[in-house]
Amino acid sequence: LFCDCAVCCRRENEPPLIKGWIPFLGKALEFRKDSLKFLLEQKRKHGDIFTVRMAGKDVTFVMDSSLYPYIIKHGRQLDFHKFSDKVSPATFGYQPVHSKLHPGLKEQIHRSFKLLQGDNLTPLTESMMGNLMLVFRHDHLGHSGWRSGCMYQFCLSVMFEATLLTLFGRPAAARRRTGTNALMDDFVKFDNKFPHLITEVPIWLLGGTRAVRQKLINYFLPDRMSHLTNMSEFIRMRMEVFDNYENLRDVDKGAYHFAMLWAALGNTVPATFWAMYYLVSHPEALQVVRQEIQEVLSLSGVEFSSDTNVKLHREQLDKLRCLESAIKESLRLSSASLNVRMALEDFSLRLGESRSFAIRKGDAIAMYPRTTHLDPEIYEEPKFRFDRYVHNGAEKTDFYKDDQKLKYYLIPFGSGVSMCPGRHFAINEIKQFLSLLLLYFDLQLEDGQSRAEFDPSRSGVGILPPSADVRFRYRLRRSF
Ligand code: HEM
Repeated sequence: LFCDCAVCCRRENEPPLIKGWIPFLGKALEFRKDSLKFLLEQKRKHGDIFTVRMAGKDVTFVMDSSLYPYIIKHGRQLDFHKFSDKVSPATFGYQPVHSKLHPGLKEQIHRSFKLLQGDNLTPLTESMMGNLMLVFRHDHLGHSGWRSGCMYQFCLSVMFEATLLTLFGRPAAARRRTGTNALMDDFVKFDNKFPHLITEVPIWLLGGTRAVRQKLINYFLPDRMSHLTNMSEFIRMRMEVFDNYENLRDVDKGAYHFAMLWAALGNTVPATFWAMYYLVSHPEALQVVRQEIQEVLSLSGVEFSSDTNVKLHREQLDKLRCLESAIKESLRLSSASLNVRMALEDFSLRLGESRSFAIRKGDAIAMYPRTTHLDPEIYEEPKFRFDRYVHNGAEKTDFYKDDQKLKYYLIPFGSGVSMCPGRHFAINEIKQFLSLLLLYFDLQLEDGQSRAEFDPSRSGVGILPPSADVRFRYRLRRSF
């Protein structure tokens, strides 16, 4: 009898398999505990390609980012959407898209992503500016003297409301939406369970998560959406697309919108936190960045004063090179997303002229850019350096490993077909948030706190949040 199962047999030319001693879980728990340490250990033992059995699935890790282009080239055999189509409906609560039942829906959803980019980014960025200013002015600019706050909570509340207003709009005749705090609290409850949901833990095992998700979906049901004005073109187009499909239930439409809210905030909030934290804890970097923002404003003839609202246009944001570098540097340090592709057939994964590996249909291939981002051969002195991505006033793009110039040296937004469509919007909104913060406030960390650490429990999900919030002080700046 010939056994060809993945459990006990390896076929010729397959990568080494790392199984762990708990049959189903395999190495999932060790990966979760400290993914970077775990993967680097496996790399030391097995080389830069190996397969790990995690929660019943075989995941082949490709550890060397100079090999990523080969994976991206294997688009016919390695599919991103197969993975997200399986995981997203169960996570966010919509029915899976079937090409027969919903012809063209997937393609139209994909097409809507264009409205986050190119020329369409301009109105979106302008709208975000106005909404950030609105939230700052109402919640934070009316006080003199020092105020204390928790930094993550501060970033969350400002970015949550401004993003919600920018993408989804507000009721007619209101400047803000009522119930935003309750929505945000539910969002946080759901987000805390997100790592379990995307690893396919059934929602009924996660306490009240199903009820919380239902409440979140209800906020975006069609009759509630129809009362909103000042909505982004992006969400408006998606509403129109959904309305063309009679067999999409209202609850599916609500769940799609809620999924988009999560996509727009789930990574952006922790990314904003780290950029703020690193700047506030490196006053010399903060000073250079603040100077840059002031210069860009004064070049446009704007006289800044804390009584007036600031407006930074897209072209001005593009000129903030040091700020952009500081944001990218904090993304480098905090990003821990796993970019996963599913093998659609048995095939030979070619990695250059002389290497190839046998991959089985149904297995996953994973790129874990964190190992690249923290590789001391690529980034000597791996601690925060705000100007790492800027050289002579231009973006620095030459990073090397083994004397080879790397194409993929900074990958917080994924790569190839699954690259984040909101990446330009995300960088711009973080720039806008930090610009307002640095222009209006003096900022300090409160004394007596240890350095912020990453919460490793979200490894593989995206930007790591801090394991505990950080207290800081802020007051309106007196001199500019
Ligand atoms: C997908 C990162 C902000 C919308 C992704 C992926 C990553 C990512 C890693 C998946 C790539 C993969 O699996 O290979 C980030 C980070 C952000 C951010 C780090 C902030 C710092 C945003 C924003 C939006 C957005 C602001 C929308 C306004 C999306 C969407 C997808 C996605 C819709 C799914 C794309 C698809 O299905 O093809 N993002 N993202 N993201 N992101 Fe973002």
